[in-house]
Amino acid sequence: MNKPSIVSGIQPTGPLHLGNYLGALKNWLEIQNSGKYDCFFFIADYHSITEDYDAQEKRKQIFELACDYLAAGLDPKKSIIFIQSQVPECTELAWIFNTLTPVAELERMTQFKDKSQRQAKNINMGLFAYPILQAADILLYKGGLVPVGQDQVQHVELTRDCARWFNNKYKVKYFPESKPLLTETPKIMSLLAPENKMSKSLGDKHWLGIDELPELFAEKIGKAVSTPAGIENLKTIYQAFKRKMAGEFNPEKMAETKKIIAKGIADYFADFRAKKEKFKEDKKFVLDILAEGRQKAQAIAQKNIKEIKKIIGVE
Ligand code: ADP
Ligand code: TRP
Repeated sequence: MNKPSIVSGIQPTGPLHLGNYLGALKNWLEIQNSGKYDCFFFIADYHSITEDYDAQEKRKQIFELACDYLAAGLDPKKSIIFIQSQVPECTELAWIFNTLTPVAELERMTQFKDKSQRQAKNINMGLFAYPILQAADILLYKGGLVPVGQDQVQHVELTRDCARWFNNKYKVKYFPESKPLLTETPKIMSLLAPENKMSKSLGDKHWLGIDELPELFAEKIGKAVSTPAGIENLKTIYQAFKRKMAGEFNPEKMAETKKIIAKGIADYFADFRAKKEKFKEDKKFVLDILAEGRQKAQAIAQKNIKEIKKIIGVE
């Protein structure tokens, strides 16, 4: 392990949508396949319990997301794929960063403000400290680059601040200053309300699940709004899958263009859909991959947390 590290995760909160794919996952695959980095891709389950959830459902969502990762092409021979909560060193490091982070910095976080509005009855400490756990996820593996969508840039900046606060306080050069790595499509917009980011938190007609059936693609894209912002968003989506599009993007003929886009995307994800079904049927295979990922991630995490505890004077 001596290449630069890349770290990223997605919360298991439901099906992956086109924004997740174009903003994050697609980039992960390119990075993994470049062979230039040590890659850590995980399932951010501890982050996801900061929102209201059902425990039985959560277990399924974690497994499904693992299937999504593998079906999309994450390869356990090339990347370390694991579940966040299975490497508890990350919560230890989060505690250490808690002691370095001014409360005012967390109060500024736009995601915290949005989520606090969305779940006004459950503004818990975890929601508030969410970006600190994210900083720990990244810095535990000394992640220099963090491939995420636009909405996560502020959190990666806080991660860089945590690295600086730590290095300055303890007069070391231990952590790298992490930077976000964006794709050409870092912010896909909602199909129905294109002034908002495509997000699972909006109703399901706002987003396209990448494992949805072709009929649903046609229906949802057919109903996408054709305002200037809506057309711009569809054009971005069209361009991203251009290789699969059997026709031109014509803003004068949106009904036809929408059909071309729906068909192109459905074709692009046909292989993904088939592979995901196979992984879902082979539970043991998937769990074995996660167990191996845990072992590899934890070996590094344990070594690093030991060094960190020495630096801060508790070991
Ligand atoms: P959601 O907002 O739907 O809950 P997540 O927060 O689980 O999505 O995001 C997982 C990853 O996908 C993150 O890297 C995030 O930045 C990226 N992402 C989410 N929505 C979009 C979008 N609309 N466009 C581009 N990237 C996105
Ligand atoms: N907060 C990220 C999201 O909502 C998920 C996440 C958790 C993450 N830990 C991370 C992303 C570390 C990148 C690196 O999408």
